[in-house]
Amino acid sequence: MITMMSVETPAKVILFGEHAVVYGEPAIAMAIDLTMRMTAVRAKKYTVDGYTMTDKHHIFIKRSIEKFWNRGPLQIYTETNVPSSSGMGSSAVVTICTIGIINAFQGTFEKEKIAREGFEIEYDVMGMASPCDTSVCTHGNGIMISKRKEKNHLWSIEKNDKTWHIHHVDVPDLPFVVGYTGIKGSTKKMISKVARYVKKSRFAMDEIREIGEIVLMAKDSLHENDLEKLGKLMIRNNQILVNLGVSHPLLDKLVSAVSRSCYGAKISGAGGGGCMIALCKNVEKVVERIEKAGGIPFSVNVHREGIRRVF
Ligand code: PMV
Repeated sequence: MITMMSVETPAKVILFGEHAVVYGEPAIAMAIDLTMRMTAVRAKKYTVDGYTMTDKHHIFIKRSIEKFWNRGPLQIYTETNVPSSSGMGSSAVVTICTIGIINAFQGTFEKEKIAREGFEIEYDVMGMASPCDTSVCTHGNGIMISKRKEKNHLWSIEKNDKTWHIHHVDVPDLPFVVGYTGIKGSTKKMISKVARYVKKSRFAMDEIREIGEIVLMAKDSLHENDLEKLGKLMIRNNQILVNLGVSHPLLDKLVSAVSRSCYGAKISGAGGGGCMIALCKNVEKVVERIEKAGGIPFSVNVHREGIRRVF
């Protein structure tokens, strides 16, 4: 019997399309080289990093185990450099690690199955979520999520009459820096805020549709490695997110602080705190300016592999 298993899963950033994806528009996300390593050892009692496993502190791990594992207690250890509630997908990372470990113990390790099961857990816990984070953290590289099936289709996920098609996107190596505000954003609150706006205003829905158009142009620009164009699309996407009310004074400050040293910058993820991302002309300058403006910079690269078994 195998008694120990270890996996590693990358975090993510949303390059284009957050919020609009909730309304069926496409979005592009990229796995980044901030990771979590999770190791599980068969034991007499469930623990996480030496503490008893509880709903309050380990909800994603606990729900994953309750739903997909019945072969006895595990001692779980985590090691990570992904800040929690930062817009970089920390809940998807911990969920995908747990599901990956369970699958590996059961003798399978298929990315599609892991992404599907991971989404089930995120959806159960959050009440509302798209399979964007769980898919990109599992698959690695880039993904585009859309309501139409297109070239480079990986898998489709259905939930409550909704279908999301997940596609592979080959993201070139680009000089991205993430600026974390240090403020924990609430995805749920931000989604509800946009929903209220969309309900009462045609303008908001038009803005959502425009994000969808930006995403499709961005997909081509990524393919062509056209940094100038990508930057302009990021700036436009950011303006719409600001118009939709999901920014935060510190996010605005970080985006404007880096503007002269990058092709473009935008909020990444749900907003209201969390993080922004810049496509840099000068990485050192962007890092310096984010720090000076009160943010925490992470110079990130695309993580090509996605989830992997360590041993
Ligand atoms: O901030 P994050 O990583 O939770 O990203 C949320 C992205 C949304 O589009 C707002 C919601 C979703 O589920 O796609």
